[in-house]
Amino acid sequence: MNKVWENWSPEKKQQFQEQFIEWYEQEKRNLPWRFNQDPYRIWISEIMLQQTRVDTVIDYFYRFMEWFPTIEALAEAPEEKLLKAWEGLGYYSRVRNIQAAAKQIMNEFGGKMPQTPEEISTLKGIGPYTTGAIASIAFGLPEPAIDGNVMRVVSRLFCIEEDIAKASSRKIFDQAMRSIIDESHPGEFNQALMDLGSAICTPTSPKCEQCPIQEFCLAKEKGIQTLFPIKSKKAKPKDVYYVAAAIQNSKEAYYFEKRENKKLLADMWTFPMIEVSKEEYEDFQKKWQTGDEISLFDEPLVAEENLNTLPFEKAEQIIWQKRHLGEVTHIFSHLKWHVLLFYGRLPHHFDGQLGEGKKTNWLLSNEFNQVVFPKVQVKLIQLLDKNRNNSNPF
Ligand code: ADE
Ligand code: SF4
Repeated sequence: MNKVWENWSPEKKQQFQEQFIEWYEQEKRNLPWRFNQDPYRIWISEIMLQQTRVDTVIDYFYRFMEWFPTIEALAEAPEEKLLKAWEGLGYYSRVRNIQAAAKQIMNEFGGKMPQTPEEISTLKGIGPYTTGAIASIAFGLPEPAIDGNVMRVVSRLFCIEEDIAKASSRKIFDQAMRSIIDESHPGEFNQALMDLGSAICTPTSPKCEQCPIQEFCLAKEKGIQTLFPIKSKKAKPKDVYYVAAAIQNSKEAYYFEKRENKKLLADMWTFPMIEVSKEEYEDFQKKWQTGDEISLFDEPLVAEENLNTLPFEKAEQIIWQKRHLGEVTHIFSHLKWHVLLFYGRLPHHFDGQLGEGKKTNWLLSNEFNQVVFPKVQVKLIQLLDKNRNNSNPF
């Protein structure tokens, strides 16, 4: 492969860096984690910005800093509050890792963020990208911070043909970056790349005529910008099927279960949910289909013909709506959940546990904000709401 950056003269590099940093200083967005170089703020913002858009992150970031102003406060925070602060951002393992890292910093680094890339990268949840971002932005070290945006820009700049979906390609981007990074402004340089990637050097139609480094860009010179980055297709997410139940008692409270310490959505509250095979799922979808659009409460609940075929504990004590309410889907990076929702009521007053061994809770709809729901549960509540013809929006 042709390592174009190796042919750049020191003067060319300097010209490139000056032009790029000047553009950044003029055009940079005013973002709350750019007010100062506090490593704690940089760290949290970089974690939030993985997989979440800048505009969404801003509010979350302010609130997080208000609730957990220091690494110590974060290390000692109760889990529920932590999850609440993250509610809606998804990928909850990120916030659990953040707290584990905060504890590491308290115990192993005397409460101060470590300052070398080697030490930073020992913290839980901090990989090469975040290490580079913290080292460069907070500590001014000439470390690359390579994410998808940066790879797109750099692959175009030098016509790098390595497949960015492969972990082994990192090395080549790391080399290219180390060769061009502005050692006296590494944090600005890295953030200039991030801003360029999100505003100008965009995936499908880069705005090259507005680009501050266009005369350095090999792909632009050749007119082949959109051929880069080269990326092999990811495997399709695997389909997983669930049947879920919205169960109400005579006081209108809904039944929730706390998920176990599994990998996905550990310790979060959802309607009871059972994994089924694709075939079972399709059977449940076909059952009791009328084909009509009907409101949830237009149709009588069916007590006589108990729907024992629903796979929930004590299902026979529940009076089920003889119709599913529809499906919600949700993608967790490598999995696609399909969740089919049923509705049932308990005929007598009951606010105990319907199943064994799980933490459970009955909540009125106006109490929903007391707990943290994962996105998929929020979608289930919205589906339920839609089925009620908006007669009682949550
Ligand atoms: N995306 C990731 N890190 C960022 C940063 N520091 N500023 C803007 N966008 C980003
Ligand atoms: Fe991206 Fe175009 Fe700038 Fe090259 S010239 S870096 S392709 S925006």
